Amino acid sequence: MILVTGAAGYIGSHTCVELLNSDLGIVAIDDFSNSSFQSIDRVQKITGKKFDFYEMSVMDTEKLEMIFSRHNIQAVIHFAGYKSVSESVTNPLKYYQNNITGTLFLIEVMKKYNVKNLIFSSSATVYGNPTNVPISENSKVGVTNPYGRSKLIVEEILRDIHNSDNDWNIVLLRYFNPIGAHKTGEIGEDPKGRPNNLLPYVSQVAIGIREKVSVFGNDYDTTDGTGVRDYIHVVDLAKGHLKSIEKLYTQCGFKIYNLGTGQGYSVLEVIQAFEKVSNRKIDYTFEPRRSGDIGICYADPSRANVELKWYAEKKLDEMCRDAWNWQVKNPDGYKSHSVYEGIL
Ligand code: WQD
Repeated sequence: MILVTGAAGYIGSHTCVELLNSDLGIVAIDDFSNSSFQSIDRVQKITGKKFDFYEMSVMDTEKLEMIFSRHNIQAVIHFAGYKSVSESVTNPLKYYQNNITGTLFLIEVMKKYNVKNLIFSSSATVYGNPTNVPISENSKVGVTNPYGRSKLIVEEILRDIHNSDNDWNIVLLRYFNPIGAHKTGEIGEDPKGRPNNLLPYVSQVAIGIREKVSVFGNDYDTTDGTGVRDYIHVVDLAKGHLKSIEKLYTQCGFKIYNLGTGQGYSVLEVIQAFEKVSNRKIDYTFEPRRSGDIGICYADPSRANVELKWYAEKKLDEMCRDAWNWQVKNPDGYKSHSVYEGIL
């Protein structure tokens, strides 16, 4: 069985679909701090498969122990964590507690039950403002906010744990910019309140929830002056986790992989792509740069291509089309979540 923490989240739910579709057994946990039970329900609907779900935090070691004693867990995919750059600046302690201490609690219980296979959800944000692109796993790391720092600190903790006991197999996945949704439109990105990220904001303008997109800066050193990012379809990202599970089971030791397409797109290119698939006009205005933003960021994914035999396959138009399909089918995202009567 694979324990999936943060399983109700955007990337977690899409990864659960791919695991179940590959006939891998999962146990799912989530505290719904940034997700809805609806997504767990819909993962079961998409796959037609049942699995045990527990509403809980990774900080609840008693419940974690219960899960490891009740289920034969062979590996853990750890998504649970807060991920807003701006919120981490105003409330760093919340981020260090949940993202770092939560991971330490999880590792302690894994060690106690001799489960030493872990995939950690990291982020390209650990590269900070890259000196050159494309970014490889050997590129210099350098964080610029507490969220990114929490990810980098966990990466270093996990490296130390592997170095202290080589029985640990640990894969760090550095995600670039995940967007899009499952082709059924049953699961997708469901930000609470005003979306921080570009794509859900563009999508809400397209459907009429929001008036226009604020394009943060058009004076970057890029083709059209707007920020360039490596957008990757969330399903391609999810499949990267499947390949990483296979890698773990080869006793791979400590590995780091960029999960990106290797292709950057500017804000204006994303808006144009979204207008094409939605057939909606998307108004925007140029605003000052957002603090902490970088100009260009895209991956060199060759290590994952070779070592995981994983490639991002979907292009920007398909990412936008699937995001729009999710938006149209779920104008207000998941309904407010119902409290799940967990098994525990
Ligand atoms: C993309 C581009 C903005 C919103 C962040 C985190 C990263 C990961 C993904 C968690 C930039 C521009 C955005 C808007 C805009 N999250 N933009 N108007 O900042 O690259 O990455 O989210 O893992 O860790 O750092 O993503 O979607 O916020 O921004 O012009 O309303 O769109 O300036 O160029 P980002 P983003």
